[in-house]
Amino acid sequence: MIYSKITGTGSDVPEKILTNVDLEKIVDTSDDWIRSRTGICQRHVRAEDEVTSDLALRAAQRALHAAGIAAEQVDLIIVATTTPDMVFPSTACILQAKLGVTQGAAFDIQAVCTGFVYALSIADQFIRSGSVKCALVVGAETFTNLLDWNDRNTCVLFGDGAGAVVLQPASEPGIYSTHLHADGRHVDILSVPGSISAGAAVGSPTVQMDGGAVFKFAVKVLKQASLEALATNHISMDDVDWFIPHQANVRIIEATAAKLKMPMSRVIVTVANHGNTSAASIPMALDIALRDGRIKPGQKILLAGVGGGFTWGSALIQM
Ligand code: UT7
Repeated sequence: MIYSKITGTGSDVPEKILTNVDLEKIVDTSDDWIRSRTGICQRHVRAEDEVTSDLALRAAQRALHAAGIAAEQVDLIIVATTTPDMVFPSTACILQAKLGVTQGAAFDIQAVCTGFVYALSIADQFIRSGSVKCALVVGAETFTNLLDWNDRNTCVLFGDGAGAVVLQPASEPGIYSTHLHADGRHVDILSVPGSISAGAAVGSPTVQMDGGAVFKFAVKVLKQASLEALATNHISMDDVDWFIPHQANVRIIEATAAKLKMPMSRVIVTVANHGNTSAASIPMALDIALRDGRIKPGQKILLAGVGGGFTWGSALIQM
C-alpha cells in the first residue's frame, strides 16, 4: 500500500508589515476593535512588484530544502490560490518555471480558503496511485489585492503569504484521509463578484462579506469536517496532537475548538501575526509550528479549512 507523507514544509510572507495602528490611519477602526474581534495584530502586504508566485517560490524553496529534494525531482505542482499572477498561465506553471522544473504536471486549484486542503487531497490521490513521486503543494495568496481599503468590515481581516509542502510516497501514513465538501448556494455571504470581460473589470472586484453569517457557517462546517476525519480513522480528538484550523479569526478558532472539546493548548494559532491569508493559512501555520518545535515527528495533526464557495474540508496527517 502506498501512502503519501509530508517530507518538508516552508512558508513566506512579504517584508512589509501593516499593523492595526497603521490601519487606524486608513479606515475608521481601532487596534482594540481588531484585536478583540479577530485576534489579528498585523498582516503582511506585498511590495508593488511582488506577485503570488514570488511568495510561492520562496515557500517552495524552503519546503524543498527541508525535504532534501532538488527541484528537478518534482513531478507535480499544485498551487491553491484565489489571487493568481495573471488569468493564464496558471501560477503553478509560473512557479514551475521559476523553480527550473521542466517535467510533470502543474496546475492551480481555486477553493478560496479551503484551497490548500483541496490541493493536498488531490496530490495525495496522485501519490497513492503511484503516478507521481514528488508533489509540491502550495497555498499562496496576495489577498490584499482583493480588498477595498475603505471597507473596514473586510480590509482589516486579510493579509498576504504562502505555505508549501513536499509530498512523497511512504509505506505508512503520512496522510490518513482527506474530506472535501462544497455547497455553492452560499455565494451571497462571501464573494468577490467581479470578472474580466474584453479586458475590462465587470462587477465588483473586492471582497463582499456578511461577517456574522460567515462566522456561524465556518464554525459549523469546521466542526463537521473535523468529526468526519476522526470518525473515518476511528480516533477521538484525544488522539490528535495538534489541531490546525483555517486561520481566519481567533474567535472562530476558539469556538470550533470548544465544540470539539480540544484544549487551546493543542491548537496552532498564527493569525495574530499575518491575518487571514486564505489558501496559505494552513500550510503557513503548519510550517511555523514545525520550525518552532511545537509539532514533532510522528505527531498526528488534524487540518480543517473553510472558505468561499462555500467550500470546506479536513485532512488527518502524521508528520
Ligand atoms: O475565510 C473566511 C473569511 N471571513 C471571516 O473570517 C469573517 C468571519 N466573521 C468575523 O470574523 C466577524 O463577524 C467580524 C470580525 C467580521 C465582525 O465581528 P462581529 O463581532 O461579528 O462584529 P459585528 O459584525 O457585530 O459588528 C459590530 C460593529 C458594527 O457596528 P454597529 O453596526 O454595531 O454600529 C460594525 O460596523 O463593529 C463595526 N465594525 C468595525 N468597527 C471598527 C465592523 N468592522 C469594524 C472595524 N473597526 N474594522
